[in-house]
Amino acid sequence: MNKKIGTKILGTGSYFPSKVLTNADLEKMVDTSDEWISTRTGIKERRIASSGEYTSDLAYRASLEAIKSANVKLEEIDLVLVATITPDMFFPSTACFLQKKLGLNSVPAFDFSAACSGFIYGIATAKAFIESGLYKNVLLVGSEELSKITDWTDRNTCVLFGDGAGAMVLSASQDNDDVLSVFLGSDGSYADLLLIPGGGSINPATIETLNEKLHSIKMQGREVFKVAISKMAFAAQKALEISEKTIEDIKLFIPHQANMRIIEAVAKKLDISMDKVFVNIHKTGNISSATTITALDEAIKIGKLNKGDLVELIAFGGGFTWGATVLRV
Ligand code: UT7
Repeated sequence: MNKKIGTKILGTGSYFPSKVLTNADLEKMVDTSDEWISTRTGIKERRIASSGEYTSDLAYRASLEAIKSANVKLEEIDLVLVATITPDMFFPSTACFLQKKLGLNSVPAFDFSAACSGFIYGIATAKAFIESGLYKNVLLVGSEELSKITDWTDRNTCVLFGDGAGAMVLSASQDNDDVLSVFLGSDGSYADLLLIPGGGSINPATIETLNEKLHSIKMQGREVFKVAISKMAFAAQKALEISEKTIEDIKLFIPHQANMRIIEAVAKKLDISMDKVFVNIHKTGNISSATTITALDEAIKIGKLNKGDLVELIAFGGGFTWGATVLRV
């Protein structure tokens, strides 16, 4: 009898644009202060892509690193998935631009949108494709240029976001199952609290939508904050239950990096000590779907995670969407 196919994590990679935008820089742009941003969010600086550097370019650099660390040949990749809310264009997909840049002729490639939960949704999607037997080696990328959909005159949002990309190669395996659990959820009744209202079929682009700045992120921060804490804690608990693991079994928790106060509140709610929680928000800001994967890649690179360790990724974002996954790295 054939053994059940499992999903092995072969490698990860990440990439950040070189330009750094500090809180001091923002003080010159809007009515804010380093003190407000640091104490209310934990962010000190974020990376910003240049005008000629696109979401697929960041994805490309992160992908090359992930493919190298996975030790697979480029031509062995048979599916390309990109989580993004800041695609190069509405269509073609950023995954197709990435596929072309990688020289991966003819393999299927598509984008999907689950906002800041995108990478966790992507793990579930990659796992399903692999374990159904449809594809063997999946390149999964979270890539964002939130700087390009930010209203740089709105102090409520412009201090929060940054740019970056992370990638993972997942592969079919008879011996390993590194994705121990995935739990996903969504609730579209919260759509109005975090969105880009313009540019789609509801508000197609016009001079008016441009003047009203409907093409940039709008957020009711305080309301989002409350739901984020409860849903992230809930998702984290559910993914642990499904994996039949406890908090003690997990070496490191990697929550979505939207606000240091949210991260601390989630840890408190779950009774997780902060030294088991990975934080890099001070350097990156919120990079939506790229957040958990770039943080995971950094944790591996700096030795916070070693081969065989269990890690839990937890995310929450526009939609609302939420999700968590327990992984063996
Ligand atoms: O990634 C997807 C999920 N996203 C999130 O999870 C983000 C969730 N929300 C948050 O992280 C927080 O709500 C924010 C960081 C966005 C805001 O923090 P807050 O503690 O909820 O502040 P607030 O919106 O209640 O505003 C408090 C005050 C207001 O002034 P008044 O009305 O009290 O006089 C704001 O106008 O802070 C003011 N304010 C600022 N002041 C200086 C808002 N933004 C700024 C700013 N600099 N950049």
